[in-house]
Amino acid sequence: KNILFIASEGVPFIKTGGLADVVGSLPKGIDKEYYDVRVILPKYNCMHQDKKDMLHYRDHFYMEFNWKNEYVGILEAEYDGIKYYFIDNEYYFNGFKPYCDNALFEIEKFAFFSKAALSILPVIGFRPDLIHCHDWQTGLIPVYLHERFAGGEFYRGIKTVMTIHNLKFQGKWSIKEVQSITGLPDYYFAPDKLEAYKDANLLKGGLVYADAITTVSPTYAEEIKTPFYGEGLDGLLRARSNDLRGILNGIDYDAFNPETDPYITNRYNAVNFRKEKIKNKRALQADMGLEQNDKTMLIGIVSRLTDQKGFDLIAYMMDELCQDNVQIIVLGTGEERYENMFRHFAWKYNGKVSAQIYYSEELSHRIYAASDAFLMPSLFEPCGLSQLMSLRYGTVPIVRETGGLKDTVWPYNEFEGTGTGFSFTNYNAHEMLATIRYAEQIYYDKKREWNKIIDRAMAADFSWNVSAQKYQEMYDWLIGR
Ligand code: ADP
Ligand code: GLC
Repeated sequence: KNILFIASEGVPFIKTGGLADVVGSLPKGIDKEYYDVRVILPKYNCMHQDKKDMLHYRDHFYMEFNWKNEYVGILEAEYDGIKYYFIDNEYYFNGFKPYCDNALFEIEKFAFFSKAALSILPVIGFRPDLIHCHDWQTGLIPVYLHERFAGGEFYRGIKTVMTIHNLKFQGKWSIKEVQSITGLPDYYFAPDKLEAYKDANLLKGGLVYADAITTVSPTYAEEIKTPFYGEGLDGLLRARSNDLRGILNGIDYDAFNPETDPYITNRYNAVNFRKEKIKNKRALQADMGLEQNDKTMLIGIVSRLTDQKGFDLIAYMMDELCQDNVQIIVLGTGEERYENMFRHFAWKYNGKVSAQIYYSEELSHRIYAASDAFLMPSLFEPCGLSQLMSLRYGTVPIVRETGGLKDTVWPYNEFEGTGTGFSFTNYNAHEMLATIRYAEQIYYDKKREWNKIIDRAMAADFSWNVSAQKYQEMYDWLIGR
């Protein structure tokens, strides 16, 4: 069976967040004996040169799009046993980042990408039985399949899955302009199709026309059917709830493995972490301007700095938290107010708070390995991968019970001796602080208990083993029917 992933980012070629991790690792988890999984990505000019060097020119043609004849270049690469294709177009993919702030341009760019991705299929000679689409950037794929390509024999009967990694981003703009860009007939711009609240909405198109909808955790799949998490589409998601399921993300257990990780100073495993993990902390403290102290509890944060991740709560409690005997290291970029907040606290609590405001794969691994705890008090979280990486590295997550965080971090219960982390229910700064302090108490006063939490965290399995199986079952069910 032929499965095609179409997405706007994927590891190792280009990454801004967890979507790239999933697109880069799920295909490897799918059984190669029964499925030929390939991936289409944009060929961004901002990809690292060593990644661009991996791509080979395959073909090109011109495609009618938005009243122009657009160049569609096809490049290809094979990586870790998976075949990748890249859509090349200088005008759309030339930015110094994969995405930009011009919402209209983004819509045009990914409408182009979606149409081009479908158009290259006969050229590369790959006819998928099923196309797996990811987030709003690929929302038009099921729509285009329904429309233009319906006539062509090649495209007939291709099934589609739309996976929601983040419902907050939908690709919305005025109907008039989206219609002109996409070239879709009037028919599609009605409230039961692409229209939502007077605008055209690309993700909604995908959700209406895909054969099945998934999201990245069972809890988020339930949450998005409610107004609070539904981002205006909860009605549609309720209506399609028979075709909607939550399948938990996994992470690449080879790339994130404390026993082999080339980025960390001291490699360790579930047996020797008591002695070895601490050496990573020592090295990180030295390199990141933190006071040298083995005993101080080090709390790590690796994140996009946005509202979604609960930084309001952290901002509110930072001063108070810094009165405790803890150190905090943040690695992240995003909204300026949060970047500046962490710079401010790093200055104010010099030696106690370290703010690394940039993107670094290497430092992220070092933080997962070196920290004692990992803080992720998200407002909403479709799945979250950072907490899975933390668990894998024996770093105890402190999270809010929402979406995938609720499904993957089991709260410590001192009476039963269970749990892999700490969690709180309400989006409330005081609840968060109380939970951090509870963790501090176990860390400082009950070290044996703390180490048992680490034992359980490192024993938890969030590789793709289980979840890839669930995707396969869904593919079979859709292709077979
Ligand atoms: P989201 O996709 O919402 O950003 P996830 O937890 O699913 O959240 O995935 C985030 C991914 O991005 C993780 O792999 C995390 O390590 C990585 N990441 C986030 N910010 C940075 C950064 N500044 N440097 C390196 N990696 C980062
Ligand atoms: C999104 C979500 C995150 C999820 C990731 C991969 O970026 O914010 O929770 O883990 O996609 O599915």
